[in-house]
Amino acid sequence: MNDIRDEKIRRFSNYRIIEHWVLLITFIILVLTGLSQKFYYLAVSQWFILRIGGIDSLRYVHHYTALVFLSLVTVHVIVAVSGIVFKKWRPSMVITGKDFTDAADNIKYYIGMKDHPAACDRYNYKQKFEYWVVLMGAIVMIASGLVLWFPVFATQFLPGEIIPVAKVLHSNEALLIFLIIAIWHIYNAIFSPEVFPLDTSIFTGYISRERMISEHPLELERMEGTDTGERGADIGVDGIEAKS
Ligand code: HEM
Ligand code: HEM
Repeated sequence: MNDIRDEKIRRFSNYRIIEHWVLLITFIILVLTGLSQKFYYLAVSQWFILRIGGIDSLRYVHHYTALVFLSLVTVHVIVAVSGIVFKKWRPSMVITGKDFTDAADNIKYYIGMKDHPAACDRYNYKQKFEYWVVLMGAIVMIASGLVLWFPVFATQFLPGEIIPVAKVLHSNEALLIFLIIAIWHIYNAIFSPEVFPLDTSIFTGYISRERMISEHPLELERMEGTDTGERGADIGVDGIEAKS
């Protein structure tokens, strides 16, 4: 007999899988090469800087990885906006009033005031929070990073105070975004009891039917046509046709 834990449903396209890998790799390189500059006085930073060939090589790696990161974010935004505008993708990462009521309902569920958790769609409120923190953080890092990289050019258009402002923004946002990913995202993707030892969906593209039922019941209903009469019709913001 078919076990629903073995039944797989396509959640992410190959494009999303590659995009997440590029994000993961560039982010780790930027954090390592950036934070070792911020905490240059630590022994571990000095060991890392020497291993990479000195401060000039470290900055070189930071800058050219930053260009890949910049391209990734730009392509992501262009694909998302044009998908929603021209291809009529569902804007599934947009925050709605339901996210706030879902969060409140889940708190009630956890303290025993409700007998079932909120029924979420393609992305729940925690995933949307992470997504927007990373996207907004990336835009701040790119803008401030470009000012630090090309200070003379930037001050042809902007007041000189922009340089120390960019420095403070870049340095502190780096720590914030790193902590959010290291604590919140890694908890949700690895240590959360629902997915432990690893949520493999963004690497394989597939999620179990069991998890779709408990975590994304509204998307599953739409995919299977139980609410619209259309089967396999969810085209998310990531542009994949999620097939049942
Ligand atoms: C998530 C992405 C990024 C992280 C975590 C990050 C982190 C950092 C950190 C912690 C520093 C040291 C700041 C200090 O000394 O207090 C730094 C410096 C710098 N970053 Fe980034 N950064 C990121 C993306 C970028 C991007 C996209 C660019 C350029 C487009 C960039 C360009 C620079 C520049 C020019 C510096 C000044 C030091 C140098 O010349 O290498 N960074 N970064
Ligand atoms: C060990 C490392 C990582 C693992 C295991 C992991 C795992 C995952 C998984 C399973 C998802 C899909 C969640 C869903 O079902 O929607 C996801 C989404 C995402 N990941 Fe990662 N990830 C890792 C590292 C990173 C890093 C370094 C970043 C960089 C900033 C990142 C940013 C994102 C974003 C923005 C999303 C979409 C929002 C969401 O669904 O949570 N991830 N990741």
